[in-house]
Amino acid sequence: ETGCFTYDPGFGATASCKSAITYIDGDAGVLLYRGYPIEQLAEKSSFTEVAYLLMHGELPNALQLSGFEHEVTHHSMMHEAFRTFLYGFRHDAHPMAMLTGMLGSLASFYHNDLNIEDPEQRRLAAIRLIAKIPTIAAACHRYSIGWPIRYPRNNLEYTTRFLHMMMEVPSEPLELNPVAAKALDLLFILHADHEQNASTSTVRLVGSTGANPYVSVAAGVAALWGPAHGGANEAVLKMLGEIGRPENVQSAVDKAKDKESGFRLMGFGHRVYKNFDPRAKIIREMTYKVLGELGVNDPLLDVAMKLEEAALKDDYFVQRKLYPNVDFYSGIIYKALGIPVEMFTVMFAIARTAGWVSHWLEQQNDPENRIGRPRQVYTGAPTRDYVGIAQR
Ligand code: SDX
Repeated sequence: ETGCFTYDPGFGATASCKSAITYIDGDAGVLLYRGYPIEQLAEKSSFTEVAYLLMHGELPNALQLSGFEHEVTHHSMMHEAFRTFLYGFRHDAHPMAMLTGMLGSLASFYHNDLNIEDPEQRRLAAIRLIAKIPTIAAACHRYSIGWPIRYPRNNLEYTTRFLHMMMEVPSEPLELNPVAAKALDLLFILHADHEQNASTSTVRLVGSTGANPYVSVAAGVAALWGPAHGGANEAVLKMLGEIGRPENVQSAVDKAKDKESGFRLMGFGHRVYKNFDPRAKIIREMTYKVLGELGVNDPLLDVAMKLEEAALKDDYFVQRKLYPNVDFYSGIIYKALGIPVEMFTVMFAIARTAGWVSHWLEQQNDPENRIGRPRQVYTGAPTRDYVGIAQR
């Protein structure tokens, strides 16, 4: 069968569906967005250009890119009524809880997008999500620290605009180090898409029912929050903080090998990569560069490097092909940029929205699209007759 969740690509895995967006070779550590190696996009592209590529399948020319960026800028505001939702959350709510709720509530503003037959309307909904998630994310953060919301500034490019909405103190203009915007833009590129990971599969499963893009992406945000998935970047920083010093690394590695402990090295391992995650390699190299350029000396970087070194030469990890993944180093850079740890997974969600909406569009525009209906292996009781309560 070729319906979603029953397609067998013949390499022993159970593929959930067909897609032309991202290709991963887990053994070779290869990641391609629409055929372009992640290493080349990381070096030469920008997040908005990568978002266009994921959505449209081709790199934009200059006119297409400026048109796309103009459209995203034009849709970056959020309806003023969003404040009422925001102010209804507890101040200390986790920003991922706020983001999940706020994204889903977009469905209550765009009635024409609830049942989208027109491909142009679908494309517009995708643009809205890419455009508004930074504004909503920054608003969630500012609300949690008691600052007034900042509106998006049209004269700034995407990532710089987000940092301004996130960081600008009410009383004075933000002096943003260009290194910070470039580093975050690169992290957004690296997190933009990753084939059928748990959150993207969630977006496709919800979208396959004909549900609107806003609740489909909100479901993806919910799935991403888990510490086994996008929540790992926040968990890595907490783990490094608990390890504290390089001399404590070996005991952490030993604890992660003891199943009884229930402790895992967060930021290590991957369902698909049985080699270095190519994104982790790029982030590892940029961590040194960014912290150096920002003049940040973070002792957790030494702990991370020691932990990686200890795990990579330990048989337990080598035999199970457990390597650092995209989440292992990213948090150290987010921290150096002044982004609070509870916002780390929100950063992941901002970037991954480009992938989620691209998969949603690919699915909605596919005439063969059918509702996803995973099956199961039944392990319950055999058929049996009802027993009256007096006999139980
Ligand atoms: C992301 O899918 C994607 O593409 C996701 C992602 C994306 O871009 O969307 O790449 C982003 O989610 C990256 C992963 C972030 N999560 C973490 O860093 C959390 C820590 N890692 C794991 O819990 C785990 O490695 C997973 C969830 C990432 C993968 O889990 P699997 O494939 O189900 O592996 P498993 O649990 O079957 O483990 C296989 C073996 C087990 O030991 P044995 O039973 O064979 O003896 O490896 C062990 C596990 O106990 N193991 C670990 C470990 N990860 C696996 N042991 C210690 N530390 C770890 N981190």
